[in-house]
Amino acid sequence: MFLQSGIKPSAIAMSSLLLMVISQAATAATPQSFLDTYAQEVKVQNPGFKGFSAKSGESFYKQTHGGDWSCSSCHTDNPMQTGKHAVTGKVIQPLSPNANPARFSDVDKVNKWFKRNCNDVLKRECTPEEKGNLLTYLLSVK
Ligand code: HEC
Repeated sequence: MFLQSGIKPSAIAMSSLLLMVISQAATAATPQSFLDTYAQEVKVQNPGFKGFSAKSGESFYKQTHGGDWSCSSCHTDNPMQTGKHAVTGKVIQPLSPNANPARFSDVDKVNKWFKRNCNDVLKRECTPEEKGNLLTYLLSVK
């Protein structure tokens, strides 16, 4: 009787712990997991791919691409700093994961904003190589 009521709650605790671990594994993302995914995507097109470049990422981030905006128009020239939306003036938390650990931790959020921001700045989606270079740059700033 005592034993049984002792086992049950712990069994429930164990299985809910297990569920938590499983669901976290399915959704958790890190800057490194994004880099791995982008590298895999690049290699499909370019098997000789040698790795991402922080330097290319920096110029991609700071340059305009045929329109008025660059990434730095809203995220500032320094991705360690708090930004400001070029139109609405709304505060944007720093884009670099070094300054803001919430960055590149959520696949849906990253995909949504890459899509929207790349369309605003480049009038097309960013390529996996552009995303990988950009993230490499964001991780290189101190
Ligand atoms: C017109 C303003 C604007 C421009 C230009 C802009 N962004 Fe953003 N960006 C935002 C806003 C607003 C958010 C969402 C709010 C937030 O997450 O703080 C965001 C979020 C993001 C995120 C989500 C990251 C995460 O994990 O939370 C990424 C990635 C991103 N931007 C990349 C870029 C890149 C790359 C460019 C240039 C091609 C760019 N942005 C240009 C406004 C902009």
